[in-house]
Amino acid sequence: MCGIIGYVGHRPVVPILIEGLNRLEYRGYDSAGVAVVNGSGLEITKAAGRISVLEEMIDFESKNTFGIGHTRWATHGAPNDTNAHPHIDSSEKIAVVHNGIIENYKSLRTFLEQHGVTFKTDTDTEVVAQLIGHFYDGDLERAVRRALREVSGTYGLGVICTEEPGVMVAARKGSPLIIGVGQGEHILASDASAILSHTSQVVYLDDGEIARIEAGNFRLTTLDNVPISKETEEVEWSLEEIERAGYEHFMLKEIMEQPESMRNCLRGRIDLTEGAVHLGGLVDCTRELVRAKRFILTACGTAWHAALVGEYLFEEFVRIPTEVEYASEFRYRNPIVDDGTAVIAVSQSGETADTLAALREAKQRGALVLGVVNTVGSTIARETDAGVYLHVGPEIGVASTKAFTGQVAVLALMACYLGRRKHMSPAAAADYLQALSRIPEQMQETLDKVNVESEKVAERYSQRNNWLYLGRGYNYPVALEGALKLKEISYIHSEGLPAAEMKHGPIALITEGMPVVFIATSGLQYEKIISNMCEVQSRGGSVIAIATEGDHEIAKQADHVIYVPHTIEPLQPLLASIPLQLIAYHAAVIRGCNVDKPRNLAKSVTVE
Ligand code: AGP
Ligand code: GLU
Repeated sequence: MCGIIGYVGHRPVVPILIEGLNRLEYRGYDSAGVAVVNGSGLEITKAAGRISVLEEMIDFESKNTFGIGHTRWATHGAPNDTNAHPHIDSSEKIAVVHNGIIENYKSLRTFLEQHGVTFKTDTDTEVVAQLIGHFYDGDLERAVRRALREVSGTYGLGVICTEEPGVMVAARKGSPLIIGVGQGEHILASDASAILSHTSQVVYLDDGEIARIEAGNFRLTTLDNVPISKETEEVEWSLEEIERAGYEHFMLKEIMEQPESMRNCLRGRIDLTEGAVHLGGLVDCTRELVRAKRFILTACGTAWHAALVGEYLFEEFVRIPTEVEYASEFRYRNPIVDDGTAVIAVSQSGETADTLAALREAKQRGALVLGVVNTVGSTIARETDAGVYLHVGPEIGVASTKAFTGQVAVLALMACYLGRRKHMSPAAAADYLQALSRIPEQMQETLDKVNVESEKVAERYSQRNNWLYLGRGYNYPVALEGALKLKEISYIHSEGLPAAEMKHGPIALITEGMPVVFIATSGLQYEKIISNMCEVQSRGGSVIAIATEGDHEIAKQADHVIYVPHTIEPLQPLLASIPLQLIAYHAAVIRGCNVDKPRNLAKSVTVE
């Protein structure tokens, strides 16, 4: 998720900054920029798009030996040239690069505007630059400290000032930063991948720490200016390993970071005391949504599976007819869309050609069109009338994992947001949101418990060429998603079905030892699904059950049981999908497949 690079020393800074940004490219970004201090002040070069765009613009002959750089993964404000970092204050003396989210940026912006500041960008980050400028009185470190006392949210910061050439101030809270220690030079970066070509000696900043960095020395303090001393450490990882934070594949990294990505997705959106949901992107169209006669959710692939969960959530809690449509079908079949129809396009990349075409078709027919998108400023995000971002950070692995749970979570938030304006009682909303707010910790519990068992299942059945995934109710989309995960990265043929459909044909497929995965967590149809499991076992199939912790009865009808924590039925997809992601991952590794870049697949299908 985005990256920071900074350098102060004796060598030309521009090549070092550009090399560092290229090393950080794997973290995912949409724009980039650098700031150096030259004789006449700050020299800012920044642009939307790839780092190669920046390389075309920048002066590589610059004699400067001091500066900062950034790759941005936009969270607030479209990824355009203006919103790219670095951001400067009104005096144009101070430049800032930032990773993270400033949660109280709106109130700080109002405060600064009341003090005469005119903002130039749509980002939350500019607030930090302007606040530091507001407090600046000749001591950059002190100004940063005072500004950060007013800030809530997460940050990794790099700050420079024309009045203090050769001084770089860094601060960390919730977004990583390290200092590379060289000979008469220091490098600031989001991770060691941008440092290793210069030095393997580093100092890790911890949350709540500020660093004042010069060419020959640096000083660490807490936010309260208490001095801190730290030993330099040797980085032992290879560059390749660092880019995946030590995981063998991006997909595994993204599966494991779902507790964090879910916290980021829910952050600031749930009010447990009021039993309310805050979705700023829907404020201007809430009345229209509440009065809609029908919802159509349109998407492709995994996003379509998340949208199917959304259909169930909307019909249960918003009580407005809702249907999910494959975007590729919707766009060509002359669908009925009228002005009472609200269409919601669900997409991680925000660039999927079929989904984009479907939303354009809906818009042309007069529908209100919303986006549930991960990539800020993507085409779908820009062409919809309103929407809600996932905020789960860049998803590098082709197989979608944290974006799936992010899409389901956003649709769950929307169902409550609209449900409370229809028939959902405050008490029902409070219970629902209480359960939703526990999901990040329950995801962590799940990840801590299910990985070993998931790997065992994969080891046992990865050579079988036909699997079935079965679920009922909210777990039917989970069955579809589990099957897609397995087929797209391990190349095993697998099919997801509503469990009750088995007797209408598919049960003929059951052969001795055939793996059949049942999502059989507690719920209204639990007894029915146990019966389906018996039907499969009695015909020689091997039953793998995803069950709710404490359910020991189920073991009688299953060859393997993988337990997930209890949550309310509508939210079970957020937990039950995790072992399925891991089973698919381990099966692909065992079969020697290219997990992050499966054959024939692209991360974003921008062709029709
Ligand atoms: C899911 O693992 C696949 N990568 C694919 O089905 C994906 O979900 C689909 O192409 C939609 O992509 P989007 O969410 O970026 O629109
Ligand atoms: N929230 C900031 C922005 O949207 C920083 C995002 C990032 O971490 O790159 O510009």
